[in-house]
Amino acid sequence: MKGLILSGGAGTRLRPITHTSAKQLVPIANKPILFYGIEDMARAGITEIGIIVSPHTGAEIREAVGDGSRFGVDVTWIEQAEPLGLAHCVLIARDFLGDDDFVMYLGDNMLEQDLVDFVARFQAERARRETLPLEGDVAPAAAQILLARVDDPSSFGVAEIGPDGEVVALVEKPTDPPSDLALVGVYIFDPTIHEAVRSIRPSARGELEITDAIQWLITHGHRVRHEVLEGWWIDTGKKDPLLECNRLVLDTIERRVEGSVDDASVIDGRVVVEPGAKIVASTVRGPAVIGADAVVERSHIGPYTSVGEACCVRDSEVDDSVLLAGARVSHISRLTDSLVGRDAEVRRADHRPRATRVMLGDHSLVEVE
Ligand code: G1P
Repeated sequence: MKGLILSGGAGTRLRPITHTSAKQLVPIANKPILFYGIEDMARAGITEIGIIVSPHTGAEIREAVGDGSRFGVDVTWIEQAEPLGLAHCVLIARDFLGDDDFVMYLGDNMLEQDLVDFVARFQAERARRETLPLEGDVAPAAAQILLARVDDPSSFGVAEIGPDGEVVALVEKPTDPPSDLALVGVYIFDPTIHEAVRSIRPSARGELEITDAIQWLITHGHRVRHEVLEGWWIDTGKKDPLLECNRLVLDTIERRVEGSVDDASVIDGRVVVEPGAKIVASTVRGPAVIGADAVVERSHIGPYTSVGEACCVRDSEVDDSVLLAGARVSHISRLTDSLVGRDAEVRRADHRPRATRVMLGDHSLVEVE
């Protein structure tokens, strides 16, 4: 089984962060979102991974991932010149995928559940039906999808399940959803999908929809197996879901303090302090991570805060936030629910007249207390 990770999206809902950086590289607990997907595949025994990137962010993503060896996988890069849809990604990955089954994973999705059992169940069911067909068996599934109950199904692909528990129809962003079961961004396909993606036409938004390709499988008599998600699932493409995801992942970390902590500081609970980080006269309350070479001085950090590599926090209180590498915060009485970009600075001015002064990137958002 191979893996296909879709990492070409532009991330417009995370601007301005994504003006300069790929959304799939925004860190959750100081690790790029994309790396969680790669590690998940590696754990499921998938070592040949194709990653789809756009011309805009491809170079940065390639540089961050490298050749995959540090994850124990082999990465093939596939450039999608224009965002023509998820099924278009399968179309252009044809040579890489060959005739293998594959897991397709949207690079900005994060799941609590891992891929190991999801892949194992698909393979076990196929093997059983192929080697030991039982009376009444229908053919093995050509695809497996993962569904989650959501409050706003019309923003997703939606599945309709028939009375016998089989998927009978799929529709992308329906105005009148047939159920509340949304397609989560993880799919398994056998090579039949290649005919499907060649046969469908672009949707109203001008994209080749993977949802339409799976519907094509059903219309042409192929079975689509489904599972309903266990645990949380977050599409990290916006600030608040991203912070929520940061909280959920931080909740799973183990305490590890490798940086320096002076006698006047308190490290409370599940906190990671990476090598080279310096905590001076501060409190860090877990769950929280402090990146390598970061400095935290006379400050209070956490809970639910990720301070990136080489950040500097002085005379401030920060909680429920993600600071990207090199960000600086000083003399801020309380910074909360915030996402601060690379090398960005938030500080209190001590000169008069007292005022709020900003130099903001395009599409930035500042909420003044
Ligand atoms: C895509 C799929 C949709 C799926 C969603 C999951 O939507 O088209 O079927 O439910 O991902 O995140 P998009 O993010 O392109 O709007």
